[in-house]
Amino acid sequence: MVASIHPSLFDRMVKLRRDLHRHPELSREEHRTTDRLVSELERLGLECQRPLDTGLVAEIPGASDAPTVAIRADIDALPIHEETGLPYASDVPGVMHACGHDAHAAMLVGAAELLMSRPEPPPAPIRLIFQPAEELGIGARSMIEAGVLDGVGAIFGGHVDRHYPTGTVVAVSGPVNASTDGFRISISGQQGHAARPHETVDAVVAGSLIVMAVQTIVSREIDPTHPSVVSIGRFEAGTASNVIAGTAVLSGTIRAQEPAVRAHLHRSISRICESVGQLHEADIQLEIEEGTPPLVNQGPMVEVARRAASEALGPERVRTMVRGANMGGEDFSWYLQEVPGCYVRLGARLADSAGYPAHSSRFQIDEAVLPAGAAWLAEVAVQGGRELATGMVDDLEAAGRAS
Ligand code: NI
Repeated sequence: MVASIHPSLFDRMVKLRRDLHRHPELSREEHRTTDRLVSELERLGLECQRPLDTGLVAEIPGASDAPTVAIRADIDALPIHEETGLPYASDVPGVMHACGHDAHAAMLVGAAELLMSRPEPPPAPIRLIFQPAEELGIGARSMIEAGVLDGVGAIFGGHVDRHYPTGTVVAVSGPVNASTDGFRISISGQQGHAARPHETVDAVVAGSLIVMAVQTIVSREIDPTHPSVVSIGRFEAGTASNVIAGTAVLSGTIRAQEPAVRAHLHRSISRICESVGQLHEADIQLEIEEGTPPLVNQGPMVEVARRAASEALGPERVRTMVRGANMGGEDFSWYLQEVPGCYVRLGARLADSAGYPAHSSRFQIDEAVLPAGAAWLAEVAVQGGRELATGMVDDLEAAGRAS
């Protein structure tokens, strides 16, 4: 086993994870999951709060009144029909834990148990956040609006990752996940006879020009060492082959790892829409629906996360990223907009893994990640609290010196 955790705790985590796996629930519908997690935490003597319909928060008192350290797990599943053939595969047709959030929830319960069994209270209060609706990119924001970051000085979390050996922790400064924005472009031209184009404003031609021009933003305007993507996934127009379409609607997604690149992509799409509108005398409206911001680890809490991994699992298990950041989104980024923290990858590679990716019907993880993840979460909560408590003493001393 990669972390020194009592076998009975490992068994409890596996049992919990498999129960959640068998009964997956979609974003904002995590009622059974929430009830199950509440009963696990109450068994440990923790009081739970439910700031939203689903998801929960529990607090472990600290030895000081330093700011709280939050540790977070997401708990929702995906609309995917499971095809793993596992004995504990989903009982719910069309719904599956295909991203490992079942493991995240079980690890956080395991971390709570480790923290509660320590002979001394942690240096600062610890808040356990079991967050719903990560897959929709909205859960973190709703939890923040409900006040779960009140009094929090640092936050940590992690995601299982089949690209890294089980028991390793990847904690790095810099971008970890991309921003995810949606956009919709509505083109209004002038419908008419396909044989008399001069009497029309062709929305298909204007739209096609936008599709091609948008592809040059990433290839010709953005520094190639700063990854970004603009994809148009839908292009709807026209009613008949002999009618020039008067309207068209295009929609797509924008991904970037850095806020400045993200802003550049938004500006460029807007500029292209405006220019094509002038060129073709069409009315073109652009709507950008902002999703999660880029997830960027920075500041001293990254070092705290690495130190905790080294303490809990051994220095050889602390890794740097061998692959680039993930162009998928992760709504943990909303927390990092508010407070310092660090989001890590938790290696969970199965020995015989054929490599089915997350969000696929055959996705599987190595359950030996559970003790490793729980040990890291518990340790980072303690180390983070120590950092915050020491920082508070420093602040007080500095204030004392100033007065
Ligand atoms: Ni996920």
